[in-house]
Amino acid sequence: MAPHPQRIISESPSMKKILADIPNIALSHANIFITGETGTGKEVIAQAIHSHSARSQCPFIKVNCAAVPDTLIESEFFGHEKGSFTGANAQHRGRFELADSGTLLLDEVTEIPLLLQAKLLRVVQEQEVERIGGTSPIKIDVRLISTSNHGISSAINQKLLREDLYYRLNVIPIHLLPLRDRVEDILPLTDYYLEKMCHQNGRPLKTLTADARQKLLDYQWPGNVRELANVLERAIIMSPSTTITPDLLLIDQHSLKPSLPIGLSLEQLEQQFILQTFEACQGNRKKTATQLGISLRTLATKLKNYALGFK
Ligand SMILES: Nc1ncnc2c1ncn2[C@@H]1O[C@H](COP(=O)(O)OP(=O)(O)OP(=O)(O)O)[C@@H](O)[C@H]1O
Ligand SMILES: [Mg+2]
Repeated sequence: MAPHPQRIISESPSMKKILADIPNIALSHANIFITGETGTGKEVIAQAIHSHSARSQCPFIKVNCAAVPDTLIESEFFGHEKGSFTGANAQHRGRFELADSGTLLLDEVTEIPLLLQAKLLRVVQEQEVERIGGTSPIKIDVRLISTSNHGISSAINQKLLREDLYYRLNVIPIHLLPLRDRVEDILPLTDYYLEKMCHQNGRPLKTLTADARQKLLDYQWPGNVRELANVLERAIIMSPSTTITPDLLLIDQHSLKPSLPIGLSLEQLEQQFILQTFEACQGNRKKTATQLGISLRTLATKLKNYALGFK
């Protein structure tokens, strides 16, 4: 069954355009590729497309490609037969089979190991999967929605994503702007979350002072809508009265006035930023990955590329 569609707030021209396009996009069977920073609403849009599509009564299955260990990812995608490898104690249907007739969300698609990307390409082309240890292919009818919060051309350049697969997955591209580039959405989202969260927390409806609203408009929101929702929930819980003042909005002051090194390419900037974070974390990969909000696998690939002198 389709998940309950959630309300999507959209006052900015870019979000309005995306919402207006959804019914049309949903009607097609084409694969969709949604890009945007973390917390911009990629999953929300993917669910909305599924809910509007003729597939809405069939499964909406999500696979977080960054969270599945390399050793399990093939079985997770395509399934396996009993006894096909040590530990395969029972037959297992993969996510492609589970999503048959519906939609499969490939979250963080650049995290799929390159070897598996080659297999995935074949599945997308042939519309059939073979379980590990299976003897015959199984026909599937799945619409793929892929997401990534990386710049795609840099993911292709850095060999994180096969270009041929990308073209198969990216029939319809959707790009979600960061919240700081669609400020028209900040206050409507704020009002929506205030109402929703006051209700959820059993509090009377709270309002923000003019200063507090301005503080939300001035902030850069690196965590986008998710961060805004968290900041508001904290403020609702902490505020002793029905008024929320700026001091209750606990945001990272460093992000208020960004000072960006001008003259570097995005790739150089990313490299510098990653290496500096790595140094600040005393070479601890796990800590660095957590701090940067990327998976260990992505970090390892990037560090390896830098060491080899790739950009
Ligand atoms: N336009 C919107 N209106 C209402 N809520 C939104 C909107 N966009 C995002 N949200 C909410 O913000 C949170 C983050 O959205 P979502 O999980 O879709 O982001 P994402 O781009 O998939 O992030 P990530 O890259 O970290 O997976 C969710 O709780 C979602 O409900
Ligand atoms: Mg997501």
